[in-house]
Amino acid sequence: MKNKDFINKIICADTLKLLPEIESNSIDVVLTDPPYFLDKMDNNWNHKTVSRLTNYCNTIKSLPPGMKFDREQGKRFYSWYLEVSKEIFRVLKPGGFFFSFSSPRLYHRMASAIDDAGFEIRDAFMWLYTQNQAKAMGLDHFINKMNVDEKTKKQIKEKLNGWKTPQIKSCFEPIAMAQKPTEQTYLNNILKHEVGLLNTNIRIGNNMYPANVFTVDSINELIDKTFLLPKPGKKEKGEYNDHKTVKPLAICEYLIKLSAFSKNAVILDPFVGSGTIAVAAKKLGKNYIGIDSNERYVKIAERRLKEIDEGIKLGLFAAQEKKQKNFQLNFQVV
Ligand SMILES: C[S@@+](CC[C@H](N)C(=O)[O-])C[C@H]1O[C@@H](n2cnc3c(N)ncnc32)[C@H](O)[C@@H]1O
Repeated sequence: MKNKDFINKIICADTLKLLPEIESNSIDVVLTDPPYFLDKMDNNWNHKTVSRLTNYCNTIKSLPPGMKFDREQGKRFYSWYLEVSKEIFRVLKPGGFFFSFSSPRLYHRMASAIDDAGFEIRDAFMWLYTQNQAKAMGLDHFINKMNVDEKTKKQIKEKLNGWKTPQIKSCFEPIAMAQKPTEQTYLNNILKHEVGLLNTNIRIGNNMYPANVFTVDSINELIDKTFLLPKPGKKEKGEYNDHKTVKPLAICEYLIKLSAFSKNAVILDPFVGSGTIAVAAKKLGKNYIGIDSNERYVKIAERRLKEIDEGIKLGLFAAQEKKQKNFQLNFQVV
């Protein structure tokens, strides 16, 4: 297969089966938000599993899946993501960037898999947020079941007041930034492959130099001035979109603008979900390839992309790279 069969499409497939069909050294940027393996679904996100686990989360009989500590999760995630990362390494152009969203608890496994696949880990971004549900549990439920009298139960509860299971409220998401080694120097690489440098012309917050911290929540004057990206619009994900982990468009756009130099850059998201990264690429006038194993999400992504198409036709997106003066240097590519 040639990439032309995949460009600007969302493909329903298991990523590890589809990636081998993508041409080597052909992709500018991989930006993705993979399954984190925290939910027992691992890389099995078919519709049946997702619905079953949603119900499971609503029962109190057992801890919700994401709260069980399972040392094997990290190891399973590492082995699987190493295979994914090796394929991503092959398909990226020399100097191409690989951004991967992660979770604080399993970031080390993700970064190690990416590193071991041959990438250079260049940095980690921190997506800071203020709102998240605290997942720690008090132990009253278990104390009530103890075979002791009511007075003792009360005493234990008082003693443990406020002490909960070890899940701190999570208020950031780490994103690995890795790079496939360049061919010779950065200059040679960008002239030949049109990738490998970061665009320091883009701005974050109040006209500030791009940083590895960002937020889409207004926090306070100093943080907003330095790190704030636009808040997600009310309708940006689509009212019909019931994907559970939709990412803010502004973050995806920020990372694409930072790394995709070529006017015809291809952005690959091997776990595209409801299509946010493909939508961001399209809005910026770049090409995309999206892959997801869940048919339902593929349909949602396609619908969102179609709406972007309609928006472009109506001239709603000013940021079209193809029309705008952009950051391209005016040189002859050798
Ligand atoms: C964290 S979500 C991505 C959400 C996306 N960023 C968005 O904004 O909608 C991860 C996606 O990976 C998909 N997935 C899980 N295992 C997969 C596999 N083996 N191959 C392809 N896709 C897979 C799931 O269906 C899920 O939609």
